[in-house]
Amino acid sequence: MFEMRASLQALTAELKRLKASGVKSLSVSDESMKALRAVVAARAKGAPAAAPAKESSVPAIAPPEIAEAVARVREPAPEFAAKPAAPGGPPVPEPAPFDLPEGDKPSRWASLRERVLRDAVCCARVRPGKQVVFGVGNLDAKIMFVGEAPGGEEEVQGEPFVGPAGQLLTKMITGMGLARSDVYIGNIMNWRPEMPLDAGGVQYGNRPPTAQEMAYCLPYLKAQVRVVDPDVLVALGATAAQALLGPGSFKALGEVRGRWHEFAGKPMMVTYHPSYILRNQSNRSKRLIWEDLLKVMEKVGLPISEKQRGFFLER
Ligand code: URA
Repeated sequence: MFEMRASLQALTAELKRLKASGVKSLSVSDESMKALRAVVAARAKGAPAAAPAKESSVPAIAPPEIAEAVARVREPAPEFAAKPAAPGGPPVPEPAPFDLPEGDKPSRWASLRERVLRDAVCCARVRPGKQVVFGVGNLDAKIMFVGEAPGGEEEVQGEPFVGPAGQLLTKMITGMGLARSDVYIGNIMNWRPEMPLDAGGVQYGNRPPTAQEMAYCLPYLKAQVRVVDPDVLVALGATAAQALLGPGSFKALGEVRGRWHEFAGKPMMVTYHPSYILRNQSNRSKRLIWEDLLKVMEKVGLPISEKQRGFFLER
């Protein structure tokens, strides 16, 4: 029962954080609700109060349903400006300057990728069996999407946006009349920001990267922009937008979303992170992100059908 109360405290702390960051609803399974009710009932019977749980960790003994519920909702709310997070490991140094080699795109890209995958700072932050993650896609892409950081699936597969948010991003790309292989997809971060492991050695959930972590990886993203040379960038979510527009450039994503900005000499659209849509499945939120993507399609001269123009319009 002690463990259950610790789980409840961890969940409560997480829910408070989410509420403060603007998340209004989330779904919790019947089994989780049953487990939570059992804790509350025990407390009502006068069981002693549990020691405070660590703010941001899901206790290892949390019922999987609760741990999963916390993990699912822990993704940073993209409508909220990135906040400095607790560093996950040793201090991250300043990025070391480097030159891109001469040559054609594929060889420059391959050399950059090699550099990132062997980068000692990145590698030191990746757990055994997991991978540093570099951008993927078409080196002649007109559109480059930029996300925040790899998650659990991405660090296993070594590819950005292959988990649930990635599957949604792929659907959005398809909705634009493109294939995933037509665009380039990268992240600000090249490793998954570390959080404590549970007893089984698994990291549940994600945390936003710190300013230092982002500053370390940003030159690698910039170099990918130089090599791929896309027509436009699309920043997905507040953390990516904050990294690309500069720290403190906005307080809430609404201030910059849906408008053109500039990064590394490229027009940049800022929109919601796909994980925001996963949490807010309303036609309204889908329409907002879709309107931003319509602007991107217009900018790069993609044909837009009447059907595409009308996606997610409430009837
Ligand atoms: N979220 C991101 O921002 N990037 C990924 O690669 C996956 C999820």
